[in-house]
Amino acid sequence: MDSIVVTGGTPLKGKIAIAGAKNAALTLMPATLLSEEPLTLTNAPRLSDIATMTALLQSLGVEVTSMQDGKVQVLSSHAMTSTTADYEIVRKMRASNLVLGPLLARHDQAVVSLPGGCAIGARPMDIHVAALEAMGAEIELKDGYLHAKAPGGLKGAKVPLRFASVGATENVLMAATLAKGTTVITNAAREPEIVDLAKCLRSMGAQIDGEGTSTITVQGVDRLGAATHPVVTDRIELGTYMLAPVFAGGEVECLGGSLDLVGSFVEKLDAAGIDVTETPDGLKVKRRTDRATAVDVTTEVFPGFPTDLQAQMMAMLCTAEGTSVLEEKIFENRFMHAPELIRMGADIEVHGGIATVRGVERLKGAPVMATDLRASVSLILAGLAAEGETTVSRIYHLDRGYEHIEEKLGGVGAKIERVSA
Ligand code: EPZ
Repeated sequence: MDSIVVTGGTPLKGKIAIAGAKNAALTLMPATLLSEEPLTLTNAPRLSDIATMTALLQSLGVEVTSMQDGKVQVLSSHAMTSTTADYEIVRKMRASNLVLGPLLARHDQAVVSLPGGCAIGARPMDIHVAALEAMGAEIELKDGYLHAKAPGGLKGAKVPLRFASVGATENVLMAATLAKGTTVITNAAREPEIVDLAKCLRSMGAQIDGEGTSTITVQGVDRLGAATHPVVTDRIELGTYMLAPVFAGGEVECLGGSLDLVGSFVEKLDAAGIDVTETPDGLKVKRRTDRATAVDVTTEVFPGFPTDLQAQMMAMLCTAEGTSVLEEKIFENRFMHAPELIRMGADIEVHGGIATVRGVERLKGAPVMATDLRASVSLILAGLAAEGETTVSRIYHLDRGYEHIEEKLGGVGAKIERVSA
């Protein structure tokens, strides 16, 4: 298994190009199941999660052609062979559950394995199931698989979500595009990835209003057509690399970044003493003084502080001036980076969903272990600030969501290399 070795203390200088969003691509790709016409995605990220979604769609008979080193994906589901998403693939990536809505909408049936829990939580699907049942689907859990069918097709309905689940909103939004009649989703998720999915579906011929707000209205149509869609910039990769110069010092410009993607995150950076400047090509970031200032953070659904940037923010606050309190309200177990940061000399106390971080002068490099995608990148960032060498093992977690991280950070002066075990 590969590891990444980071040597701290080198201020960063230069530009980092931000890729297309993993969490947009993972819902845009299954949208191909809604039409027999081809769907072309540009600005696609090159990540192992994209390869996993490709394998899942190919197991259903979808043709996936990757071009320009993976930046362009052409998908076509004109020759489907299966409507069963197998456990062996789904267990590796929860987002596989995003084939449920489209398969039901176009084929009136689907068998999708429950993803099972992952490091950060149980990850149930009750909100997805309740929403699709409101549209007339009959869904039964058997042998760890959701067996779903929609005799006579899905019907438009009022679909209140008990929680603004991103995945449930995406599954219902895709299903509603081909349902008979009008669907009104209330308490819908408002993430930019939802807005991007709606834009893509509209270019395929869907009739959607309200994306980006808590109420999305969809008028079902008989069929959807071909489309070419650029994947929206990855706001979580953006936020991650915006923090890099805060850890290491110096100044970095994140190309493709825009404030509308990271509003609440930038508010917290400002309070922590970090300057973010809009440039014609993106966002330029540098810390105002040698040490950031402690701030409290509570993760919320969009437009609140993103849970996917909580680990990175905690790592940054480990060397801030003062004490910070972080509350994780989206997932039940998303502080696994804390014990690893403590190995590097951080002073963190975790009680349930609350972590108290008392800033220390400096972290010390150490061997640490990645546990989940965002925890692993928080350890890489911590290594940029630490004295000496930090070796992060199990970086297959990292490769799920960060393309060529050693090139991107190395390109702005970080001492970082991938070593194979
Ligand atoms: C998406 O996951 C993202 N993944 C996650 O990013 C992100 O952390 C999450 O949204 C929240 O923003 C993708 O888009 C592929 P949810 P999703 O449904 O859709 C509970 C990353 O690091 N819940 O909004 O699975 C659930 O257990 C990943 O890129 C139910 O209880 O998130 C969780 O506690 C990690 N029942 C909370 O809601 C359900 O039916 C948020 O889940 C569905 C969800």
